[in-house]
Amino acid sequence: MNAVSATPDRTGGTAAVTPVEMSSRERFLAAVNRRPVDRTPVWFMRQAGRCLPEYRALRERYDFLTVARTPELAAEATLMPVDRLGVDGAVLFADIMLPLDGMGVAFRIDPGIGPVIERPIRTAADVARLRVGRAEEATPYVLDALRLLRERLGDRAALLGFAGAPFTLACYLVEGRGSREFPRAKAMMYGDPGTWHALMDVITETTIDYLRGQAGAGADVVQLFDSWLGLVGPETYATSVLPYTRRIFEALRGTVPTIHFSTGTATLLDQIATSGCDAVSVDWRLPLDVAWERIGHDRVIQGNLDPTLVLAPWAAVETGATDVLRRAAGRPGHVFNLGHGIIPATDPDILRRLVDLVHAHAAGTTPA
Ligand code: CP3
Repeated sequence: MNAVSATPDRTGGTAAVTPVEMSSRERFLAAVNRRPVDRTPVWFMRQAGRCLPEYRALRERYDFLTVARTPELAAEATLMPVDRLGVDGAVLFADIMLPLDGMGVAFRIDPGIGPVIERPIRTAADVARLRVGRAEEATPYVLDALRLLRERLGDRAALLGFAGAPFTLACYLVEGRGSREFPRAKAMMYGDPGTWHALMDVITETTIDYLRGQAGAGADVVQLFDSWLGLVGPETYATSVLPYTRRIFEALRGTVPTIHFSTGTATLLDQIATSGCDAVSVDWRLPLDVAWERIGHDRVIQGNLDPTLVLAPWAAVETGATDVLRRAAGRPGHVFNLGHGIIPATDPDILRRLVDLVHAHAAGTTPA
């Protein structure tokens, strides 16, 4: 878009002028603050991962945790997709499991399986042994990687930090590994609420320190990943999960903008919107405009192309992406993303074309 365009400023009511060309970082930060943008910002969850041949080459030399725990290597992996894909956001190469180091929980990441907890947390005594992790002591490499990246990125992209949300981390801690239903974790939540709440509490305090540390080390935005939240219904969410998420977002207020991520939560979106996050990431199970109605147009929305759609021929990707942008209707406060992480088999050239398509679409037009 080359012309300067006027866009309604919904907070002040006066017309704001959209800059002709914003840097990627400015564009991302404008969108998460619901200010006008020149183009819709876009990034992908799992963009630093296995769909890039240069990442696979790095992984032949080092194992996953070595990359994540070595600031120079983590920075290298973070930067890989930035130029290659042309995205507006760079998500720190790390994992939601890293803060467990500070809680005294040993884990490993097994290739093809994912996180494995050496001694799963199942009883009140197990929970009592946990401690609140401190980011500066337990995960200084995460903060160092962010400091390096903030310097190297300049305005080329916004820098995103992240953490796992208490519910999703508790699922792994209790179950001991990934699962479709996380039955042991949910059995603790329903059958031993005292232990569950104590567990959620120690994870919450660890996460607050971890994310505050990331904001202080240079993250422009932080995202809280509640990947398995779709396993609970509205009443359980209200009593057993939301109070902790809310405590985290309240503790971060006044630092950096926050994004809440979950999938399979169409029935929870109105409650998620009350968690205190700035932006709500939604999956593809609801059309973007329907999801935006549910969370309210005064909130920022992120999403929501189906990550399997980018495995289809380009014509289908184009139709799907154009539909998402049409449903966003040029309202301020849309960050384009997939509804969940990139699938490893995805062709990076398709992602590059998708980024170019999103950027070519005129943003900042008058809301419908
Ligand atoms: O773009 C990026 O890749 C950013 C870094 C990132 C990773 N994990 C690297 C990673 C992020 C943001 C995560 C978050 C994460 N980790 C989540 C939440 C997001 C989601 O997708 O729901 C969850 C649930 C985890 C836990 C986890 N770590 C799983 C399930 C796995 C296995 C993934 C698989 O498909 O094998 C991991 C390992 C992991 N984390 C890898 C990467 C790149 C693969 C490790 C490898 O290189 O072998």
